Amino acid sequence: MSLLPILRYPDPRLHKVAKPVTVFDERLKRLAADMAETMYDAPGVGLAATQVDVHEQVIVIDVSDAHDELRVFVNPEIVWASDERQVYDEGCLSVPGIYDGVERPARVRVKAKDAEGKVFELDCEGLLAVCIQHEMDHLKGKVFVEYLSPLKRNRIKTKLLKEEREQKKQQTKKVAA
Ligand code: NI
Repeated sequence: MSLLPILRYPDPRLHKVAKPVTVFDERLKRLAADMAETMYDAPGVGLAATQVDVHEQVIVIDVSDAHDELRVFVNPEIVWASDERQVYDEGCLSVPGIYDGVERPARVRVKAKDAEGKVFELDCEGLLAVCIQHEMDHLKGKVFVEYLSPLKRNRIKTKLLKEEREQKKQQTKKVAA
């Protein structure tokens, strides 16, 4: 297994639309395992393949405290969503250090395949419901900051670009030392 680099907003590759998976082979299992390792290491509760620059419909999620409830969703679809909505402060491994409220359906039923290609349905609520909808947005090329006002989004963009420039400068210094 290996850690995969995570794309950072506003990288344009985060807006690519992921294709459905058609082949359930060892490569897919390795991708899911590497994504899980990357998510736990970050640490985060969910990761979409889009975030590691693989544009296929694969998501890993583990919202448990003990990190023992890893779930892999391949080609996920929302087959039902509650009328009731909730606002959660969301963050994202591709938008480090930024948290803001996003309103979504409070409960959803998701149909997906696991890494072996077996179909399952799962009723999600609470953090799991937030997380699956957030990750499914990634597969459509949508980052959660797009739910925020243009003013907030631009501030976030400026802040992250500045941080990236500063990090690059520091890396250059290390190489020169
Ligand atoms: Ni995210």
